[in-house]
Amino acid sequence: MIAIPEQGQDWPALKQALLEAKARDYSWKRGRMAVFFYYLDEALERIQQEAYMTFWTENNLGQRAFPSLARLEGEVVQMGLSLMQAPEGAGGTFTSGGSESIFLAMLAAREKARVAQANIVIPDTAHLTFDRAAWYLGMEVRRVPVAADRRSDVAAMAAAMDANTVALVGSAPNYPFGGIDRIAELGALATERGVWLHVDACVGGFLSPFLSRLGVPLPAWDFSVPGVTSISADIHKHGMAPKGASLLLLRDAALKAHHRFESKAWARGMYVAHTAQGTRPGGAVAAAWAVMNHLGQAGYLDCARRIMQARATIAAGVVALPGLEVLPGNHAILVYRSTDPALEIGRVATALDARGWLVSRQQEPDGIHLHLNPLHAEVAEEYLADLRDAVAEARAGAAPAMAAGRAY
Ligand SMILES: Cc1ncc(COP(=O)(O)O)c(C=O)c1O
Repeated sequence: MIAIPEQGQDWPALKQALLEAKARDYSWKRGRMAVFFYYLDEALERIQQEAYMTFWTENNLGQRAFPSLARLEGEVVQMGLSLMQAPEGAGGTFTSGGSESIFLAMLAAREKARVAQANIVIPDTAHLTFDRAAWYLGMEVRRVPVAADRRSDVAAMAAAMDANTVALVGSAPNYPFGGIDRIAELGALATERGVWLHVDACVGGFLSPFLSRLGVPLPAWDFSVPGVTSISADIHKHGMAPKGASLLLLRDAALKAHHRFESKAWARGMYVAHTAQGTRPGGAVAAAWAVMNHLGQAGYLDCARRIMQARATIAAGVVALPGLEVLPGNHAILVYRSTDPALEIGRVATALDARGWLVSRQQEPDGIHLHLNPLHAEVAEEYLADLRDAVAEARAGAAPAMAAGRAY
């Protein structure tokens, strides 16, 4: 077991040790992974770091002490609400990530409905965070098979509901395939049954509006759709902020009361929190605020353009290889698979991995999953060159097959 050293060491040696530890990781800065990272360029990286360091240790729980953070957080929430076409009277909360935004949405839905043995009804392409949230919150999850186009089957979801259903969920887009669910139909169903509809736009919240401006045809998914109660949107994904930044947005700010904790049941007086976290990093708020104001809508549009360029280049290169097929899609998530029994995609994955690319394996269907970032436009040709070699190696049967089964 490792103990804290008796005597501390100097920073230069520790820094060296950290850099050495990092050296064996996959290189996100060279675009070698299509999961876990979101990167534009070194200029934005410096802004993220400097903004974070400006508030590097301020505690965002203490907004009485740091009114600056209350203001910055409020502005970030307002920018998110405006982007997602929220009506007057809407509100939101800055959280640590998509998981926390979803947890709080499911808590609020449960607390608003207050039924015994609550359940949530979700398409089976929804993120497993909903199952985690339901597990924490003591709710049942009803995963409903999607339609043939891998988007929500709203009639089947309606059939899965009962008097104890407290929330419906749609993804915009879902993580496995990048499809946007039938949010308009889900909104109508939610309105008819009087239940909460949460739209998980953790991936798409800060990208879809700009894809639409580029002319990519996407179904409506935001607060412009009647019946949408809440939206989760991650600033630390396509909002391009460093980790620890997401939004839970609510059509009606009064709904925040349902995920508000308040108690005086101890010797220290009133404690109030709208988040699962107590102490919260001020740096995450400052960095998100700086990135949003620095990129502006023009910067986000440029990110969207680069992602679509990466998608077009990679998709064209993949289908040019006999035996490979790209699943239908038009978002940042690109999935391809083998249609040739003599070409095992697991072997392609192993051979790509050996060339330094972190491969994310898809199952059902067996394939390879990419979540594209602006940086991928620059490395798309390198990726395709390695993919061509990997396919040749897989066809020769040289590489063993990497098993599917881990999403990340
Ligand atoms: C669609 C979707 N929802 C929720 C999450 C969870 O977000 P986080 O990892 O920030 O907690 C993810 C993460 O990839 C996601 O893709």
